[in-house]
Amino acid sequence: MAMRSHYCGLVTEALLGQTVTLSGWVNRRRDHGGVIFIDLRDREGYVQVVCDPDRAEMFKTAEDVRNEFCVQVIGVVRARPNGTTNDKLKSGQIEVLCHELKVLNPSVTPPFQIDEENLSETTRLTHRVLDLRRPYMQNNLMLRYRVAMEVRKFLDANGFIDIETPMLTKSTPEGARDYLVPSRVHDGQFFALPQSPQLFKQLLMVAGFDRYYQITKCFRDEDLRADRQPEFTQIDIETSFMEEQDIRDMFQGMIKTVFQNTLGVDLGEFPVMTYQDAAFRFGSDKPDLRVKLEFTELTDVMADVDFKVFSTPATTKGGRVVALRVPGGAKEGSGLSRGEIDSYTEFVKIYGAKGLAWIKVNDLAKGRDGLQSPIVKNLHDKAIAEILARTGAQDGDLLFFGADKEKIVNDAIGALRIKIGHSEFGKKTGLFEDRWAPLWVVDFPMFEYDEDGQRWNAVHHPFTAPKDGHEDWMVTAPEKCISKGYDMVLNGWEMGGGSVRIHRADVQQKVFDALKISPEEAQQKFGFLLDALQYGAPPHGGLAFGLDRIVTLMTGAESIRDVIAFPKTQRAQCLLTQAPSPVDEKQLRELHIRLRNPAAAA
Ligand code: AMO
Ligand code: AMP
Repeated sequence: MAMRSHYCGLVTEALLGQTVTLSGWVNRRRDHGGVIFIDLRDREGYVQVVCDPDRAEMFKTAEDVRNEFCVQVIGVVRARPNGTTNDKLKSGQIEVLCHELKVLNPSVTPPFQIDEENLSETTRLTHRVLDLRRPYMQNNLMLRYRVAMEVRKFLDANGFIDIETPMLTKSTPEGARDYLVPSRVHDGQFFALPQSPQLFKQLLMVAGFDRYYQITKCFRDEDLRADRQPEFTQIDIETSFMEEQDIRDMFQGMIKTVFQNTLGVDLGEFPVMTYQDAAFRFGSDKPDLRVKLEFTELTDVMADVDFKVFSTPATTKGGRVVALRVPGGAKEGSGLSRGEIDSYTEFVKIYGAKGLAWIKVNDLAKGRDGLQSPIVKNLHDKAIAEILARTGAQDGDLLFFGADKEKIVNDAIGALRIKIGHSEFGKKTGLFEDRWAPLWVVDFPMFEYDEDGQRWNAVHHPFTAPKDGHEDWMVTAPEKCISKGYDMVLNGWEMGGGSVRIHRADVQQKVFDALKISPEEAQQKFGFLLDALQYGAPPHGGLAFGLDRIVTLMTGAESIRDVIAFPKTQRAQCLLTQAPSPVDEKQLRELHIRLRNPAAAA
């Protein structure tokens, strides 16, 4: 006889009167003096099993089962008595009257009740197997699978083929630290785990495969956050003979299809915003458009004010002064409290801001006297008039100010914008729109200046093509050079990014020149790509999406760890397997490795 006829969570009224065989886990056992109820759980959900004492042998077994026992039930589906139905469950109209109960495997007492809320993440990750039994995690991973399937269907239908690329490879250029793997065979030499399949997918284009994809792991040793893991999954795509716009259109279509077919959500048309516009209006290259707050530019107004905090950045190259108008933020009672303003002042310091000047607009009609602020005394009338006009301030508004190097202002006031938008105040006053907010960010600069290293770095990666006509600026005026790169952003997260690539060796060489990568170094690191480009490489481009991030946004989870079966902690450890861990001296010797600090590893 089959071990199971139906999934627990899918037994419904349609099966009334039928005998079913269910196999699953005891979520809870409730002894109602004479009758025992078992909530039986499997990946599809719960079903209520009723054990009556008139079947003595079965009842005796029921008395002994405990939470998380794996059991098999044979029973008859019947309607639940009036008043005991549960509309939240698919199986909520029925119950299964148990005829036979078999313990397939008992369980020791679990460290927590599977449906317990508010477990610490340490507990969850340490006991990940049990954590994964929870419907929340089952649903997340099921959705992840459906998303990946939709992606595969879409790409297959559009002629993309899945080709695997190596995991043991050479350092790749995404700019994070590598995970290295020592070679046993080659003393002193190392593989790097790929930060992405970037170079291989370009080689596949040169090889003529025309359309490639892969859903694959990438490895980056970088500081971890809620949206970052050291190993994560990309939906990695490359195509030949398509321009920037065509690529964006196609993959906007893919993401729309995925959302439509998994969540039933229509993402609509994606607005397209230049990098410059995004930085100017929102201080970010991944603006969360659900937040209805924008920067007001004031740099040009502050050059001659008698307030160094503003005038210095306003008159220094690379400085910026902006305001962030918070409607209703100064309203008596409902606005932001002094304590909140102070806490925001501390918050912006995380991003390097030195302070957070503010003006409460109490009564516009009273002019200067209607403003309450630690800084208005330092501002001349024209500056004040300009601030009020440009921000469009109304009575009851609060204006925040950021003044510093452009990057600090953008980061700090950009983060403040999100923080206020997502706060209780922001939600109450309609500054936050609860919707899906996708967009494309385009026209990235090719290079950004690294002040510490005193050199230019690639904003995307060094294989991104410049806009037509910008090639020569790469060496003469790198700051003017715009790339054919694009990012897809959703609700303030970078979901994916890519570019049209350089397909000519001479142009590629110019990028290396701009980046001060010598021909020898380029040859040593990327020689195989440069060589390949010489054999009639086709025009090509592509992009990669972060699968973990897409699914996280879809589930509304706080962290991408909630959509990964076996994730690492913020400290890049696996609490389940205790990796990383020390290895035997013998293994180290084989790998030609001696530890510098053996005590640290012990
Ligand atoms: P990029 O580095 O932008 O581009 O990565 C593409 C997408 O991968 C996701 N992602 C991450 N997700 C989780 N944890 C991480 N540590 C992490 N890092 C990146 C993001 C990001 O948008 N080769 C290029 C793509 C291309 O040009 O085709 C690349 O890797 O969602
Ligand atoms: P101070 O004159 O330093 O006391 O600063 C007056 C106000 O300006 C205070 O509210 C500070 O928080 C604020 N402030 C100081 N530095 C900056 C800055 N770089 N950007 C914005 N506000 C600042």
